[in-house]
Order: sequence, then structure tokens, then C-alpha cells
Amino acid sequence: MKIDLLQMVEYGGCSAKISPKQLEEILKYLPLPADPNILVDIDTHDDAGVYRVNDELALVLTTDFFPPVCSDPYEFGQIAAANSISDVYAMGGDPVLALNIIMFPAAKLPMEAYAEILKGGFDKATEAGVRIIGGHTIDDFPPKYGLAVVGYIHPQKIITNAGAKPGDSLILTKPLGTGIIMAGQRLGMAIDADIAEAKKLMKLLNKTGADVMKKYNVKGATDVTGFGLAGHALKMAKASKVSLRINMKKVSLIGNSYILIDEGCIPGASFRNLEFAEKDIYFAADLDYNLKMMAFDAQTSGGLLFCAPPDKVDKIMADLQDAGLLNAKVIGYVTEYEEKLIYLSN
Ligand code: CO
Ligand code: CO
Ligand code: CO
Repeated sequence: MKIDLLQMVEYGGCSAKISPKQLEEILKYLPLPADPNILVDIDTHDDAGVYRVNDELALVLTTDFFPPVCSDPYEFGQIAAANSISDVYAMGGDPVLALNIIMFPAAKLPMEAYAEILKGGFDKATEAGVRIIGGHTIDDFPPKYGLAVVGYIHPQKIITNAGAKPGDSLILTKPLGTGIIMAGQRLGMAIDADIAEAKKLMKLLNKTGADVMKKYNVKGATDVTGFGLAGHALKMAKASKVSLRINMKKVSLIGNSYILIDEGCIPGASFRNLEFAEKDIYFAADLDYNLKMMAFDAQTSGGLLFCAPPDKVDKIMADLQDAGLLNAKVIGYVTEYEEKLIYLSN
């Protein structure tokens, strides 16, 4: 039997996230624990929480899980694991341990698919140097998979949403368009080469980009996932109390994703992301519609968005190229806080 996980879901990957607006409303009711050892909490909407153990060591904790983004169970496992671990990289941490979180419809899918998802996750975790030491399974439809991850970090070397400084350049390490390509695949509109490229990018660990960030002592970063480039940039601008100028023409795009927008292939998550963020964004009058929607495309296991100090940009870009991140681009810069948090232009 050929297993096709995509047939089971309407929204896969990070497109299945609850809307940022609803999330914000719910989080209002959740008290934040007070403890001086909590170095990063959800107040800055960071990628992970950070807890200080002693002067030399803090723990980075995060979890992500979602429904399938692709047909093949093994590849789904790889992508979900790469995405979960990414939040530790985005904080500058070294991922160490993880637990599997899996929802699996035992009556609807063969056990072989279950094993393949976990094997994909295990192999990706191993590539990242992460040991999976347990997990939990619920019988549920459609399937969902991800990891809860623990990483180590030095308490003085945490990279957060709050670290963007006026004058910094904004670097994005992966192309955008995974949400559009995956929606295009479901609708039979995306070509095989683009689907293959999107899957390759989603499986790619953000470790290489994170190693470069750490080498140059970068202070501000996040990874671009379900809220899209503009949504995650907005969280960074808010936390850092700065404005970000992003030139969408400079952003790398996957294959024909730009053309797919012309053909109406815009996932619902893009509109939810736009609705949440638009009041804080200035859109240039001549901003290309497709590039605007690209800024809100929900990425699954997207790239790192980080702030490079001006005197280090050239070296950082050279290192990213050497590390194989050929589509890494300088896409904008940080300014003092202005009227809007984000300025999107062509
Ligand atoms: Co994240
Ligand atoms: Co996350
Ligand atoms: Co971060």
C-alpha cells in the first residue's frame, strides 16, 4: 500500500498553527511564573524558553508538532524534527535531548507509517547530535508529529528576538515559499522540482546558519515558521523596540512559488497572518502583491532571520555561502523605532 499522508490533511506543517491573533488572546490568561532563573519567557514571543541552571549553563526548552507537510512518512518525520530543533538553534543553543510527540490514527494507517515517521525523526535528530530519550503517543486523526527539545546555552550568549539594534542588517538564510508550494502540491499545481526543493529546504537543519551566528556573536534572531517572514519579523521588532525595513525583492523564493500566487495559490494561513500583522506594517504604495503575500506565507522549518552588525555583514555572508547556504540574503536593516514596526517595500 502506498501511503500518502497529504491526503489526510487540509493544513499541514506550520500552516496548521492556530492564528497569531487567537494565540495572543489566549496567552493573556496565562500567568507568567516569576523566577529570576527564567532568562527568556513568552513575554518576548521568543522561539524557546531559557532557564538558568548556574553561571555557566542554561537550558533551552521548546516544542513544536504539526500535521503532515508531505506524502511520505519518513520525510515527514525528518521535516518535523528539523523544525522542532530549529527553535534551539534560533536562540543560539546546542540541542542535546528530545522527546517524541506523536498523534497517530492506528485504525486508519498501517503501523509501518508510524515506524517510518519516528525513524525519520530519529535520523534527523541524530544528524543534529540530539538523543531522543522517550516520547508519548495518542491515537488521533490526522497524524501529527514533532519533538520537545532541550538544548544547552551559556547564560550570557542567548540570542533573542529582543537583540536587534538600529544599524544591523537583516539576513534570511533560506528562501521563502514552502507554504505556497505545499498548497500547490495539494491542488496539483506545483511541479515536482519545486516540491523536491521545498522538501530539501524543510529538512535542512538550521545548524549551519546558527554556527555562523555564534561565530560572529549575533544578538538578535528568530526562525521563520508559521507566522511568515513578516509575522516573525514583527515579533522581533516589538521585542527589540525597533523598526525593520524589509526589501521583498531581495528575498530568495523557491522555484515557481511567485507564479503560483498569480494562479491563486495562496494558503489560508497567509491571510490569517496578514490580518494579525497589517496594523503594524507600512506597505510601500508600489509593493508587488505577490511579494506582499510571500511575506505572510507560513513557512515550515524555515530559515533563520538574524541581525548582523554592520562591520560583520560581509564576513557573515561569505561564511554562509561557504557553508552551502547559497540562498542566504541580506533582505533589509534595522532602524530606530518609527511609526510602524515593519516597512515592506520592493
Ligand atoms: Co521559532
Ligand atoms: Co516553535
Ligand atoms: Co530567538
